[in-house]
Amino acid sequence: MVGLVVETHCNFFAPLQYPGAIEAGVRVARVGTSSVRYEIGLFADAAATSAASGHFIHVYVERGTRRPVALPKDLLTALAPAADGSFTTQRFRCGGCRCRDHLAALGARASSTRRCRIDTVSDILRVAARAPSGTNTQPWRVTVLKGFALAELSRRVGQAYDDPVQREAHTQEYDYYPTRWISPYIERRRKVGWDLYGLLGIGKTDHQRMHRQHARNYKFFDAPVGLIFTIERILEKGSWLDYGMFLQNIMVAARARGLDTCPQAACAPFHRVIEEFLQLPAGEMVVCGMSMGVADPQAIENTLVTERAPVEQFARFLDCGRT
Ligand SMILES: Cc1cc2nc3c(=O)[nH]c(=O)nc-3n(C[C@H](O)[C@H](O)[C@H](O)COP(=O)(O)O)c2cc1C
Repeated sequence: MVGLVVETHCNFFAPLQYPGAIEAGVRVARVGTSSVRYEIGLFADAAATSAASGHFIHVYVERGTRRPVALPKDLLTALAPAADGSFTTQRFRCGGCRCRDHLAALGARASSTRRCRIDTVSDILRVAARAPSGTNTQPWRVTVLKGFALAELSRRVGQAYDDPVQREAHTQEYDYYPTRWISPYIERRRKVGWDLYGLLGIGKTDHQRMHRQHARNYKFFDAPVGLIFTIERILEKGSWLDYGMFLQNIMVAARARGLDTCPQAACAPFHRVIEEFLQLPAGEMVVCGMSMGVADPQAIENTLVTERAPVEQFARFLDCGRT
């Protein structure tokens, strides 16, 4: 099943400025058997009248036949809070722990009204794509998920992870880590793991809580935006090197805009679920995921400061010249 936008319209009344604060209101104007009509209003900060208003209609169809299907129960549940026809707006304040609650809610509900900077993710990706790549090949491909799409992917991957039989059947397509660990990597890996679990009060034998903590990956840590990174299979190690630079640029560009990120290789073992949900072409594979939002400074796990080996341990400085 897939949702198609069959109608879209917008009236523009006044300019909006970048950078600037936008208040965006969304209401569910009509819920049909297989369609939903959403209405949108965009307001400049503190403005009483909208700068733009419009609507779009989603029709849900069966992917193969393109015949309309009944709205799924999950979507009806997600729409319910906004389906009373009222058009309310809610202030969204960036940079505080309240923000995290709002962001989390936005991830869970397709039709919330929040104030946020429009196109921030797109802007971050535009800047990040300035990353260098061998002969400017730019091997990255990104799917940005929000709202219902993010909630649905989280649900599907989470379900596969929670079921021991399914979990066993999902293996990664590429080796992120070595099959045989050696020093000093294994010690570093263990240390960061135990430091995190230590902060969370998870004991070394508490496998249930470890499982639940790892499962937070598949909820994208309650962030409002999840990104899935993919690459064409024919591309080689060099392109993966380029990819790392692109990922790092995204994380740095996000910080510059007051957002936090967590890259997630944890998504890789569930690539089949992701490929199906995103309808990826056969020639494309999942590299990793990433959560993006505003980190909750009150969350104990966010206080973890990871260690780094001193420069002398990983660098040597040779000087063949005369002194
Ligand atoms: C490509 C990549 C994949 C990662 N995957 C995960 C992940 O699946 N889950 C997670 O919680 N952290 C993940 N991390 C975060 C690392 O654990 C983290 O970067 C490392 O421990 C260093 O901590 P710092 O980033 O806070 O300095 C990933 C990092 C990278 C670069």
